[in-house]
Amino acid sequence: MIVHLNGRYLADRDASVSPFDRGFLFGDGVYEVVRAFDGELIEAGRHWRRLERSLREVRIAGEKFAAEQMSELALRLLEENGLKRGHAIVYLEITRGSATPRTHHFPPAGTAPTVFAYATPFAPFDGQRINGVPIILAPDERWGRCDIKSVNLLPNAMAKQAAVDAGAWETVFVRGGVVTEGTSSNLFAVIGGVLRTHPATHAILGGVTRDVVLETARASGLTVDETAFTVAELETAEEAFLTSTTNDVMPVVRVDATVIGSGEPGEIARRLGTLTAHS
Ligand code: PDD
Repeated sequence: MIVHLNGRYLADRDASVSPFDRGFLFGDGVYEVVRAFDGELIEAGRHWRRLERSLREVRIAGEKFAAEQMSELALRLLEENGLKRGHAIVYLEITRGSATPRTHHFPPAGTAPTVFAYATPFAPFDGQRINGVPIILAPDERWGRCDIKSVNLLPNAMAKQAAVDAGAWETVFVRGGVVTEGTSSNLFAVIGGVLRTHPATHAILGGVTRDVVLETARASGLTVDETAFTVAELETAEEAFLTSTTNDVMPVVRVDATVIGSGEPGEIARRLGTLTAHS
């Protein structure tokens, strides 16, 4: 695989990052995951805008990472890896760079951020989408700035493993009785005929797919309300679905032991999934 590291395109086995990199020592970095189909990046503008915002919020010098450069980098990775046909994913991470000795405070001004990116083929989760998936709930023990797409993902990794252990597709977090989002996805529910999802506050990552689904839902005449819902409301929902770059619109048919709606993918999930499909 040809990867990008700090301006160079090279084989992954030849790419190395300093052990003093702050991404490694502190999780001091941000990232994006972008889909591509037939060599075209999907919603690249929204992803790069969110990357710029994440960089700004954590005060990593972002001016070098303009949208056009990020797109150029991602497209070159698709090209270098023979991914100009079919589905692919580009992962891009920027950390605060490497400096010794290790200090909690930021390294000296002028320390270059580390930029790493790779592209891989991707197989959309079509089978899961047809049948819908089970999810489990867990306490949201993450920090208070989940709106920043930071590589500090230990609570997300722990919670996702709990889903795998339980034979579920995703773990969805609950904070103070309110459903926030999944470990790497947003959650929607249709409650009393209204499409609801947690508002884009500091408590969730404002998903690109979430935004596209909200716009598509409004344009198709659905009643939409960005108001958080409780676990009790979710359990009585007519339908529910996850959204993310990799999931697209993924129907949820069970939450822990509770069957959602008819136990089959709901009509609204199906419709929004079709309207926002990439191929
Ligand atoms: N995850 N919430 C969290 C915590 C996420 O990590 C993600 C994305 C989303 C959905 O965002 P989007 O629609 O922009 O993909 C919501 C990516 C895909 C990942 O970590 O792999």
